[in-house]
Amino acid sequence: MKSFKKNILCIGAGYVGGPTMAVIALKCPEYRVMVVDINFEKIRRWNSDDLPIYEPGLAEVVAATRGKNLFFSTEIAKAIDEADIIFVSVNTPTKTFGHGAGMASDLQYWEQTAFQIIEHSRTDKIIVEKSTLPVKTAQAMERILQANDKGLRFEVVSNPEFLSEGTAVKDLLEADRVLVGAHETPSGRQAAEEIAEIYSHWLAKEKIITTNLWSSELSKLVANAFLAQRISSINSMTPLCELTGARIDEIAYAVGTDSRIGGKFLQASVGFGGSCFKKDILNLVYICRSFHLHETADYWEQVVKLNDYQIGRFVRAMVQNLFNTVANKRIALFGFAFKANTGDTRESAAIYVARKLLEERALVVISDPKALDNARIDLADHQERIVFEEDPYLAAQNAQAIALLTEWELYRGLDYRKIFQSMKKPAFIFDGRNLLNHSELYEIGFNVFPIGKPALSHLD
Ligand code: NAD
Ligand code: UGA
Repeated sequence: MKSFKKNILCIGAGYVGGPTMAVIALKCPEYRVMVVDINFEKIRRWNSDDLPIYEPGLAEVVAATRGKNLFFSTEIAKAIDEADIIFVSVNTPTKTFGHGAGMASDLQYWEQTAFQIIEHSRTDKIIVEKSTLPVKTAQAMERILQANDKGLRFEVVSNPEFLSEGTAVKDLLEADRVLVGAHETPSGRQAAEEIAEIYSHWLAKEKIITTNLWSSELSKLVANAFLAQRISSINSMTPLCELTGARIDEIAYAVGTDSRIGGKFLQASVGFGGSCFKKDILNLVYICRSFHLHETADYWEQVVKLNDYQIGRFVRAMVQNLFNTVANKRIALFGFAFKANTGDTRESAAIYVARKLLEERALVVISDPKALDNARIDLADHQERIVFEEDPYLAAQNAQAIALLTEWELYRGLDYRKIFQSMKKPAFIFDGRNLLNHSELYEIGFNVFPIGKPALSHLD
């Protein structure tokens, strides 16, 4: 076997572990990068041409590295034993049981890895927190690891991930920054340097920020809270726009051109989704409450509440405008992924919209270029009244309404004249992403309901 300069291991082959390690393998050919998971099916797919996640450019990076210095395996014990550096990138979902249910992070998968590491290690190692974790988690991790009776030393470093799904490979290759938090001790500093050295293979030195451990852990939660806050801030203005004739995109532009504010993350929508924004903010809220910081907790909780309001408002407006009943009406959902360019549907607004429409007894047709497999799982408890149809033209046939929920570029380019002809009249479009050309749709004959702009209706 070829000898490598360093053995890097990642525990958790998910949306973060897979792409991050593939890029590290690409940029650091002298390091052996192993990715392990308890999920056999996932590892089987990482070792096939049918990767378990869709990310633009990922298949190419994996093809260039897999079998050379990138490996996927379920042999966790062996991989831990061989590793010098272990990234832990397991899931840290919101707790669904016991104390803190619905708010706190469920750290059971994280803790399991600490015990696995102790059990299978025979040499000192650097343990890297890649998962998003509550501030001070490293302390708990260290306490577990230092309790080993083998005399081994584990240095815990925090290196949170900032990639976004759909642009993961690009975000990793052209990261705004990489954050490495470590103890302010000689061994802590040395461990931080080792982690920084990996990223310095492709990122400039000034992009690699080093902080103390707690700043690094908390920065990740704060970064996600700030991003989500911008979306809730712009979304909070959408009902006022709809009532007054102001237009949310014009406001976002006018406000965002102030260089102190900036234009990104001001796209009004049906509401943010994804596995992290809600979970991380609720976790932050929970931590604040546990320190009796109720004002801070309430402030951030409002970001999530506003998002729930926005999704609820969208579906209520659909029912209202469809003459207060959608029972037995065929409604096509264009998009089910939580954002474009991913098949991930975790916390997607579309799940809530579909469920509400089903409750109202609509016939829901779900269309998405990448997320139908996940959609089927998300709505597995609904056997009736759902059709899954990848082709948007077929999905819209005989439908009374279309709700556009994911900003897939393909929806912009459809022949809406043809779609209109195939639909039941009066035909409606609810554009939850403001993706489409609304005046053109109105000209074709649609009744158009954008977000944060007055409706264009032939029925008034
Ligand atoms: P994921 O669910 O896609 O992947 C986690 C993987 O860990 C799963 O495949 C699971 O089987 C595996 N796992 C769990 N326990 C294990 C164990 N004991 N041993 C081996 N494997 C184990 O999750 P994800 O989206 O990759 O997120 C991972 C972490 O990264 C979370 O803390 C998340 O908040 C954070 N994060 C996610 C994103 C994102 O875009 N998804 C971005 C930044 C940070
Ligand atoms: C987000 C952050 O952007 C990443 O930096 C972070 O690493 C990641 O969470 C994480 O910790 O998991 P992600 O959830 O993959 O990434 O995707 P985003 O691009 O942030 O979009 C999140 C949601 O907000 C999507 O539903 C998206 O459609 C929505 N959104 C985004 C808007 O409604 N308006 C916007 O202007 C931007």
